[in-house]
Amino acid sequence: MKLVNNIEIPAIGYGTWQTPNDQTTVLGVTKAIEAGYRHIDTAAVYGNETAIGRALKQSSVDRESLFVASKVWNTERGYEKTKKAFRKTLQDLQLDYLDLYLIHWPAAGHQFRNWQELNLYTWRALEELCSEGLVKSIGVSNFLPHHLQPLIDAAEIKPMVNQIEYHPGFRQQQTVDFCRINDIIVEGWSPLGTGRLLENQSLQDIATKYNKTVAQLCIRWALQNEVIPLPKSITPNRIIENFEVWGFEIDKADMQTIDKMKDIGSSGLDPDKVNF
Ligand code: A2P
Repeated sequence: MKLVNNIEIPAIGYGTWQTPNDQTTVLGVTKAIEAGYRHIDTAAVYGNETAIGRALKQSSVDRESLFVASKVWNTERGYEKTKKAFRKTLQDLQLDYLDLYLIHWPAAGHQFRNWQELNLYTWRALEELCSEGLVKSIGVSNFLPHHLQPLIDAAEIKPMVNQIEYHPGFRQQQTVDFCRINDIIVEGWSPLGTGRLLENQSLQDIATKYNKTVAQLCIRWALQNEVIPLPKSITPNRIIENFEVWGFEIDKADMQTIDKMKDIGSSGLDPDKVNF
């Protein structure tokens, strides 16, 4: 898939939320790269950037062939703080540039009267980092259309990515449609519903038809809907399994069945209500 600036973004990312800052993550990232993942997604708040940095350093794959993404945390909003947070992220990852840097959550009206301004100040830092070449592409995460619109209106460089919760039973179609219209690529966090979908009987029945696991079905479903899934696993055989999603296609009827599923296991984290 290509971002609006013509940079190629690998279609599946290795998610690292809730992976610890230790050897488990070093091994997980190493395994993921061996299995073929070229896109690693982290965030300052995950607290694992130094472990990821170690894995990247040890990897025999060229830096240019990897796509590394991170996010600025909510406590670091604003121009100066974001720039400082970025420097720490880069240092912890032992890199000299990032492929993608995102605002992790929007400042929203329930917490800030000047939320639009605050998002814009944070964005100005991202724009500058992008112009300086320290980050190749910039975007946001967990932004709904009403958070995105004022940012798009004021931006010099428009957001290229929006990373949102996305899995069967929670596909946020309004936000996805809004992103499409505005040339924003959608990435999906928790593509397996943080594991909550794996026992779902309807998904199991469909997966069995294709001789695949529910995890593979969920990942493939996101891909066919042109969303970049970011499955997380620290288990070697699951890391491999989650990348083996290329040799089959979910047919139209099954896509529609999955598209229409009622909420089955969303996180409940509403950007207009979260208290972090
Ligand atoms: P683990 O990391 O212990 O392997 P999501 O990507 O939606 O956030 O889901 C992540 C959760 O799903 C983690 O608990 C992860 O466990 C588990 N998981 C990831 N891939 C698979 C898989 N292929 N089969 C079963 N569980 C999986």
